[in-house]
Amino acid sequence: MYRTHTCGELRMENIGQQIQLSGWVQKTRNFGELLFLDLRDRYGVTQLVFNMEANDFLAERAKRLGREFVIQCEGKVVERSNKNPKMPTGDIEIIVNDFRILSESKTPPFTIENDTDGGEDLRMQYRYLDLRREEVQEKIKMRAKVSIETRKYLDGLGFLDIETPCLIKSTPEGARDFIVPSRISPGQFYALPQSPQTFKQLLMVSGFDKYYQIVRCFRDEDLRADRQPEFTQIDCEMSFVEQEDILNTFEGLIKHVFKTVKNIDLPSFPRMTYDEAMQKYGSDKPDIRFGMEFVEMNDIAKGKGFSVFDNAELVVGINAENAAEYTRKQLDELTDFVKRPQIGATGLIYLRYNTDGSLKSSVDKFFNEDDLKQWASKSNMKPGDLLLVLCGKTDKVRKQMNELRLEMGNRLDLRKKGEFKCLWVLDFPLLEYDEASNRWFAMHHPFTSPKKEDIQLLYTDPGKIRADAYDLAINGVEVGGGSIRIHDKTLQAKMFERLGFTDEEAQKQFGFLMNAFEFGAPPHGGLAFGFDRLCAVLGGVDSIRDYIAFPKNNSGRDVMLDSPSTVSDEQLKELNIKVTL
Ligand code: AMO
Repeated sequence: MYRTHTCGELRMENIGQQIQLSGWVQKTRNFGELLFLDLRDRYGVTQLVFNMEANDFLAERAKRLGREFVIQCEGKVVERSNKNPKMPTGDIEIIVNDFRILSESKTPPFTIENDTDGGEDLRMQYRYLDLRREEVQEKIKMRAKVSIETRKYLDGLGFLDIETPCLIKSTPEGARDFIVPSRISPGQFYALPQSPQTFKQLLMVSGFDKYYQIVRCFRDEDLRADRQPEFTQIDCEMSFVEQEDILNTFEGLIKHVFKTVKNIDLPSFPRMTYDEAMQKYGSDKPDIRFGMEFVEMNDIAKGKGFSVFDNAELVVGINAENAAEYTRKQLDELTDFVKRPQIGATGLIYLRYNTDGSLKSSVDKFFNEDDLKQWASKSNMKPGDLLLVLCGKTDKVRKQMNELRLEMGNRLDLRKKGEFKCLWVLDFPLLEYDEASNRWFAMHHPFTSPKKEDIQLLYTDPGKIRADAYDLAINGVEVGGGSIRIHDKTLQAKMFERLGFTDEEAQKQFGFLMNAFEFGAPPHGGLAFGFDRLCAVLGGVDSIRDYIAFPKNNSGRDVMLDSPSTVSDEQLKELNIKVTL
């Protein structure tokens, strides 16, 4: 037997018991007469005490113990004279009678403690050691909890967990596919799924009217803190439902997860249309933990001889409350921020509403006091507030203002950790135009249903068609999204046509789905949550990597495995692949 208890378990009521523990040596403190050792496992840390004078043999061996050795020990639980209220086991310690080394350890490349001295790269290279650290373990445990609670909730509603294949067929829509060469079919390739979208729709045709899967997805796209090339979705689909049914069912799931994982009761999620979100926040996933809504100022800012405003399509401001005392330096920093190439604004205009009631702007030459009063009143400014104004092409300036709003939210500490604001964003546009390829693309995916009342715009004003598509944003993060699907073959064929597919192309790529729709497809819809993102949001961190046991780095590499890597010529030959670099 290796252990009678775990290292997180023993308490006052165990005093006097003879026990056995197994775990890793976190650290030792040798005081000559006594040697203290912190023994760690997944459940916690327990203090062991070696009486170095009582037993020479034990003492000699105990001195050899280094960090991260794996040991098994036997001893007696005693009350600690020097209790540690910070440790759950801090009331007791173990007087060791005997122990054995199960495994020795080299000195680890960084300390296995929350406050580690290891840099990101080193920790990723030795991820299995990083995973020993308590704060990292807590994240992985939370992920498991989110998973099991998701399963409980969906299972309780009669959803079936059904697996779909990983070796599928490449489709040109969406992000780039990862492709896998086939040895048996030379020159041909599988693709890894970007999501099980078509399969879950086929399952609806098969009659499995409530499907879910916690499933790995693969996308060859540029990486960011909230994107990994392989990530996990909570993927769901239902038949005989309308948008309202989907929103209610999955709002319930998120509430259940928050309640069971964080003991937070979320109120009903507010809803907003895509158009409203773009107009008020310049984003389809606004962080509504704080206000600072956009104030459109065309009517009061144009026509006063300031050509920058006069030539702009949109003049838009945000009221940063209590920021009138921003220094010249801070305002310059904000100007530099919006002028960064990633944001691309040409400049930033401000109006201070000083606490003495006076108004001071960076464009006083063009606007008199009455004009500025109008600005202040339209943006609900109070003395002490600062109005920040950008202008330009509507779409661009909204995006720029979104960045500035989030930056101000950070600077003014309005994006509070521990506060959670969920928002459904509805009525996404069905299509978006791509200037470069001169064609329409499906904004969500080509199976998304247009709103009934907008179908007639398919050939007249496709950009105006709204879809029965929805996203869930939490604290400004797109946590999930989905849509009601087209279940009518004729409408689906029309969509492909609108997206520039010939009949043959559509048949070649999606024939299996269109054909399936000829055999009685129920009305259906669904969504998918980004599981890693949901965990990161629950944990209050930006990077989803922390919640993935073995993530890739920012260049899509697994630095621990050193992958991707070259393969042998033999393997390539077998696959009929020539590499020409
Ligand atoms: P979508 O492409 O919006 O929809 O993806 C759903 C959710 O998955 C998460 N996500 C990601 N998470 C981490 N890394 C990535 N690279 C990544 N890409 C997406 C996001 C996103 O909201 N089949 C549809 C869903 C449906 O219509 O039912 C789909 O995949 O949180």
